[in-house]
Amino acid sequence: MVGVATGDDAGVYALGDGRALVQTVDIFTPVVDSPRDWGRIAAANALSDVYAMGGEPVTALQYLGWPRDELALEIAGEVIAGGMDVMQDAGCTVVGGHSIDSPEPTFGYAVTGVVDTESVITNEGARPDDSLILTKPIGMGIATTAIKRGRCPDSLAAAAIDWMASINKEAGKGLVIHGAHAATDVTGFGLLGHLRELCRASGTGATVEFDSVRVLDGVPQLLEEGMWPGGSQRNLLSLEPDVENERELADLKLMVDAQTSGGLLVALPPDRATAYADAVGGVEIGRLTSDKRLRLT
Ligand code: CO
Ligand code: CO
Ligand code: CO
Repeated sequence: MVGVATGDDAGVYALGDGRALVQTVDIFTPVVDSPRDWGRIAAANALSDVYAMGGEPVTALQYLGWPRDELALEIAGEVIAGGMDVMQDAGCTVVGGHSIDSPEPTFGYAVTGVVDTESVITNEGARPDDSLILTKPIGMGIATTAIKRGRCPDSLAAAAIDWMASINKEAGKGLVIHGAHAATDVTGFGLLGHLRELCRASGTGATVEFDSVRVLDGVPQLLEEGMWPGGSQRNLLSLEPDVENERELADLKLMVDAQTSGGLLVALPPDRATAYADAVGGVEIGRLTSDKRLRLT
C-alpha cells in the first residue's frame, strides 16, 4: 500500500484480511551522554514512524553496534534497558535482535505495527485549508548540540530529553479518531523539511505562523550563542530557496532545526483541529494552501 516512492515514514503492506503491516527501521549514534536516555530516545524515535501512519506497534527487533574493546558491555546493557522501558510503555514486544562489533556505538530498532487498511494515514492526503497541528515543541537539535558541547542549562537538557523520549502514541491514536488527512513525524529534516515533504506528496503549499510554534525554553538563546548542528545547516541550505520567509533568519533557523525525536505534524479539517489538538496536547501552527509555496509568517 505504501512503498519507497512517496518518501513516507514507513512501508505498509496489506495482509488481505482488512489489516496491513506497518514496517520501519531507525538506527542512531549517541545523542545524549546518558546511555539509558539514548536507549529511550532511540526507541521513541523508531516507534514514531509507525504512529505517524496511524498504526499500532506490535513487535520490534533490536540492533546494537558496539566497540567492545573500548566501551564496557554494561553500558550497552543500560542502552538496551532504556529502550526496553519505552517499548514496554508502547506495548511493543522486543522479540529479538542482532549485535555486532563496531567502531562507533549505534543502536535502534526495526518496528512492525498493524493498521486497518482503511485507517492508513499517509503523507499525501493533505488538502488546501486543512489545519496543521504539531504535537511536540521544537529545538531539540540545538539543545542536543549544546549538551554535547557542555553548554546546555540543566533544565533545558532535562526538558529536551523528556520530549525526545516521549512516545507519539496518543498523537497517533488520535489521527483516525479525529479524521486526519495526512501525517508525518518531525525528525532529521526539521519542521519545515518534513512539512515540505508532506506538501509535495499532497500537491499543496502551507503557511506556518512562527508565533504559534512551541520552541523549547532557552533554545533561541543557545542559537544566538552559536549552537547550530550540521544537520540543521544542511536543512537550511536545502529549504531556504523554497520558503518565503517574512521573519528574521534566526526564526527560520529554528523552524528547520533537525529534531532527534519530534512530534507528529498533522493535516486535518479545520473544524476538527481543536478537538485533535486538545486531545493529544498539540497546537495549531498554520494552514495548508492551494498554491504550492511554503511561507513562514
Ligand atoms: Co518519519
Ligand atoms: Co524514521
Ligand atoms: Co507518513
